[in-house]
Amino acid sequence: MVFISVQDAIEKGKGIVSLRGWCYRERKSNKLAFIVLRDSSNIIQCVVDKENVSQKVWDDANKVCIETALSVDGEIFEDKRAPTGFELRVKNLNIIHVAERYPITKDQSTEFLLDQRHLWIRSRELTNVWKVKAVILEACREFFAKKGYYETTPPIITGSSCEGGSTLFELKYFDEKAFLSQSAQLYLEALIFSLEKVWALTPSFRAEPSKTSRHLTEYWHLEAEAAWLDFENLLKFEEELISHICQTVAKKCANELKILGRNPDDLLKIKPPFPRITYDEALKILEKDGMKIEWGKDLRTEEEEQVMKHYDKPLLVTQYPKKIKAFYMKDDPMNDKVVLCCDVLAPEGYGEIVGSSERETDLEIIKNKLVAQGENPEHYAWYLDLRRFGSVPHAGFGLGVERVVRWLCKLETIRDAIPFPRTIKRKYP
Ligand code: 4AD
Ligand code: MG
Repeated sequence: MVFISVQDAIEKGKGIVSLRGWCYRERKSNKLAFIVLRDSSNIIQCVVDKENVSQKVWDDANKVCIETALSVDGEIFEDKRAPTGFELRVKNLNIIHVAERYPITKDQSTEFLLDQRHLWIRSRELTNVWKVKAVILEACREFFAKKGYYETTPPIITGSSCEGGSTLFELKYFDEKAFLSQSAQLYLEALIFSLEKVWALTPSFRAEPSKTSRHLTEYWHLEAEAAWLDFENLLKFEEELISHICQTVAKKCANELKILGRNPDDLLKIKPPFPRITYDEALKILEKDGMKIEWGKDLRTEEEEQVMKHYDKPLLVTQYPKKIKAFYMKDDPMNDKVVLCCDVLAPEGYGEIVGSSERETDLEIIKNKLVAQGENPEHYAWYLDLRRFGSVPHAGFGLGVERVVRWLCKLETIRDAIPFPRTIKRKYP
């Protein structure tokens, strides 16, 4: 027996087919059983008519309940009343496993659904999110390959911090202390001396104490680093990558996006050039809007949201004050109070999706910056070696995959951009 997918059966539109999957919903009467069958591709209504099937098939059809696994054979007919426009008139039905009573019913609390996450990830909405996410990652891989970047495999267990001590997860490492990586950046910087253009997709960990709709404690981090890349070309690269992701998802996932409430046309519009403003200009916009921020303070969620009310494409915000940014960022040669960094803010209030900068190349300047931030340069000895042996201009960025998924899928919370979200209160299931 050759099984085809539900989607292929719908596209075929007629003929005899064999399908398999799970019962999405069911309704029975004395004469008819309606079983909506779900597989990874779509759903289709299957109709079992007591008159046209054996007693065994009819009895089995009556055992089918939500999430029962089954296979069916029958003929496809167009039917406008059916949920996806076609129905299968069942000739034969084979139960693979009768499900117990499914705990998930309508209108359940967020916390309950998170407790049942291992089951809830099968829902139609989340299934569409996973599909969009897979296409986002595919688009990134394709983009890096086209640009001649090597995929690399940096470590997750590390001995030093990249993004500051306050969000580090500590771990017992035999008789020593180690940390979970916050970013692969320092290792990617080391790898550029071998491969010049590198990227990696790794989990990053942040001990974020706050519960927000944009923070996870474990997220997937897409990072790239390149020798000889200057600030201007870094920004161009980010624009092109984000645009490539949006174009690819709009084209390959139009149906998924629609089910999620995102119009694919919104994404087709995301093409370079993106608007660019400096941190100073952002403060001016905020002041005009009645939100006065002291120079040197970082932009908080509400301030980013306010600035983004003026834009409908991703916005590149550059040149933040040195004192609020990481030690590895290069000073702006035109103004040494700010650094050559860029945060990309997503439209519609989805917040920062990319953090990036040109990197400082000078050994003494980096050492001073580490000390100024209360770090001990000795803990960074290996990293500082990179400025001793052929130091060259370079730049890179990190993109939060779930941040992008949340934006493209219009999700209320970042938790739904990852199958098993880890947050301050949750590591189960
Ligand atoms: O801005 P961040 O902290 O930058 C870095 O880690 C750099 N070392 C990256 C680099 O240049 N290689 O983090 C980068 C991105 C953010 O823009 C955001 O999209 C995402 O990672 N991010 C998070 N996503 C989900 N949950 C969190 N707690 C996140 N923290 C950062
Ligand atoms: Mg950042």
